[in-house]
Amino acid sequence: MNIPDPSPALIDLDRIPDGGFAEVEAMLDGEAESLVLHRDGERVRAWLNVCPHAGRRLDWSSGQFLKTKDGLLVCAAHGATFELGNGACVAGPCRGESLRAVAVEVMDGGVRLA
Ligand code: FES
Repeated sequence: MNIPDPSPALIDLDRIPDGGFAEVEAMLDGEAESLVLHRDGERVRAWLNVCPHAGRRLDWSSGQFLKTKDGLLVCAAHGATFELGNGACVAGPCRGESLRAVAVEVMDGGVRLA
């Protein structure tokens, strides 16, 4: 019986600072998409790197994301502010909308699409 290879890691967990972010590209439905990853200890959450306000990237420079001292992610374009637990916009021009979550898992020290 053949066991399929796990998908390759998007990034090693150690390359994401705890409490911080990383940007990676992943193939989703045959399209290359930019993702924002957020590490919380051994756990990683991922969303499309696309702001629900005007569809811009959230980072101000590739992989450089703004975070408030209260631990919220801020879109660099017009300041929409997102909860890191659920990706919900809690302040700014798209309040009430959400980032699009992408399922990822940590396996063998790497972050992979789940
Ligand atoms: S595109 Fe993110 S706040 Fe406008």
